Amino acid sequence: MPGFERLRRLRRTQSLRTLFEETRVEPRNLVYPVFVREGISSPEPIAAMPGQSRHPVSDLPDIAKRALDLGVRSFLIFGIPTSKGPGAESSYDDKGVVQSAISVLKSKAPDLVVMTDVCVCAYTDHGHCGVVVEEQVDNDATLEILAKMAVSHAAAGADIVAPSSMMDGQVAALRQGLDAHGFSQTAVMGYSAKFASAYYGPFREAADSAPSFGDRASYQHDFHNARHALREIEEDIAEGADVVMVKPGLAYMDIVRAAREMCDLPLAVYSVSGEYSMFKAAAEKGLLDERKVVTETLTAFRRAGADLIITYYALEASHWLNNN
Ligand code: PBG
Ligand code: ZN
Repeated sequence: MPGFERLRRLRRTQSLRTLFEETRVEPRNLVYPVFVREGISSPEPIAAMPGQSRHPVSDLPDIAKRALDLGVRSFLIFGIPTSKGPGAESSYDDKGVVQSAISVLKSKAPDLVVMTDVCVCAYTDHGHCGVVVEEQVDNDATLEILAKMAVSHAAAGADIVAPSSMMDGQVAALRQGLDAHGFSQTAVMGYSAKFASAYYGPFREAADSAPSFGDRASYQHDFHNARHALREIEEDIAEGADVVMVKPGLAYMDIVRAAREMCDLPLAVYSVSGEYSMFKAAAEKGLLDERKVVTETLTAFRRAGADLIITYYALEASHWLNNN
């Protein structure tokens, strides 16, 4: 008897390895973020995110069909409006770009779960995630706009609204607004632990939402801190979130694991634009095997405890997962 365990026994053949797999990522776990832009008639490729585009509303039914055929059941919609202003009025316009996108998807692809991002940075002229008063983002004034925006998304048919502005009380404000307007069945996914991250760079180009002065450090989390992020998650649960989220993904796996251990709610992780662009850049240079490294990373999010993975790779990865 050797003085060690023969752990290799259960990984001797592919069949044994598959039999003993603890975690697996499937297309149904993936959420596809989609950029929809007002006033364009054909898709505009996003230079900082190879393979992703801003779409006119009319593109969405085809993309939804492609997603559902692959087994991807959900989109997270981001809007890029033609008009921006200090009060982000276009964010809660019933005829706005996201509201139109929701109606089209709900009529043409009723099986798709429609989630929407609820934040005003693409709708304000200064690019901050809230109303600015004397160069400061005003928390409570912003809550009113976020609630109106969420109600307009729910009225258009959104299944899940996801506040991402990191204002205190944003989940409660949405829940109250939705309930008061008869949308008690619309779910709220809090961007609970959203860190102030340089990984959002490519997204801000895509959504034209970079702040024109200062940064988002006064409202998004400080990446030095883990305990404080868990308090945000607890707070979102107390405010009535149906789903909580950690964002970004790769550099925040510790938070994903801690969130999983702390609560029983469905947990989403958002693998953000900078993560996607890093993989794309490495793949284009031939430095990494894209398919393998992305599959490994998505599996790691599941292993860390995420139920849902929001990823720009949703469609491509599902194609790989279905053909392996
Ligand atoms: C809007 C928002 C951002 C992202 C999602 N919602 C950008 C930001 O906070 O600056 C980032 C998504 C990504 O990088 O993929 N508040
Ligand atoms: Zn924002």
